[in-house]
Amino acid sequence: MKVKSGESVVLIDSKGKKRTVMAGDKVKKIRHLGFVDLQELVGKPYGSRIQIESRTHWILPPSIVDEIETIRRRTQIILPKDAALICIYCGIRSGYSVLEAGIGSGALTIALANQVAPNGTVISYEKRGDILESAKSNLERVSLEKRVSMNLKDVTEGISERDLDAVILDIPNPCDAVKNAWESLKIGGYLCAYTPLVSQLEDVVKKMRKYPFIEIRSLENLQREMVVGERGTRPNFHMLGHTGYLTFGRKVKE
Ligand SMILES: C[S@@+](CC[C@H](N)C(=O)[O-])C[C@H]1O[C@@H](n2cnc3c(N)ncnc32)[C@H](O)[C@@H]1O
Repeated sequence: MKVKSGESVVLIDSKGKKRTVMAGDKVKKIRHLGFVDLQELVGKPYGSRIQIESRTHWILPPSIVDEIETIRRRTQIILPKDAALICIYCGIRSGYSVLEAGIGSGALTIALANQVAPNGTVISYEKRGDILESAKSNLERVSLEKRVSMNLKDVTEGISERDLDAVILDIPNPCDAVKNAWESLKIGGYLCAYTPLVSQLEDVVKKMRKYPFIEIRSLENLQREMVVGERGTRPNFHMLGHTGYLTFGRKVKE
């Protein structure tokens, strides 16, 4: 399989540092990489190597994790470990209609858009125009913009869509959007709130208990990497101690 012009590819060096680029573009200065002739990538077999500024990089098609990890961050993002749990616990699958707020940098959007493909939709609400624009360019870089409907909208002021399969809230005050989420979900649809603070988690759970949601539960998802050395194996000294709590609930009839 060879790289085609206009394809998104990931360049990974021997230390695991990676960048996602668009093959076929002109020479570009890429942060932490230097000048790269993106036309040179076209026709190269996937899995082969390329020298960039004296460092070797492997050329691969980007995985969902690559797409999220190489995103340009304008906000805090939902990391792959939490995005994976959101997709599984909300039962998100191909063909689903899923709403998220806010879009932020578009990291969770990437996971959702891949999951609902090829016929599903991700509807993203974001209340800041500048953030919406940068999320749009992040999604364009990984060719996912056509799968996402991006709206400059405050989710606490209302959700126009109905019969949604899932609503995911990553905003500072998710409790203020619980009523709108309940109204927009189909029966059996899931609400998920991602909250960095315990106080936000408590507020959202208390609010969800006022509506017909069942299976309300909050999870913390801890992950640590193992290091395999010559003399033994141990957990990595560095661990991302905390990201956010995930609260889930499922809509039933009034
Ligand atoms: C932490 S970021 C979201 C990050 C995103 N989930 C990601 O993975 O890249 C939170 C975003 O929510 C937006 N936001 C905050 N309150 C909102 C609201 N009521 N309606 C829509 N967007 C909102 C903020 O402007 C910000 O961009």
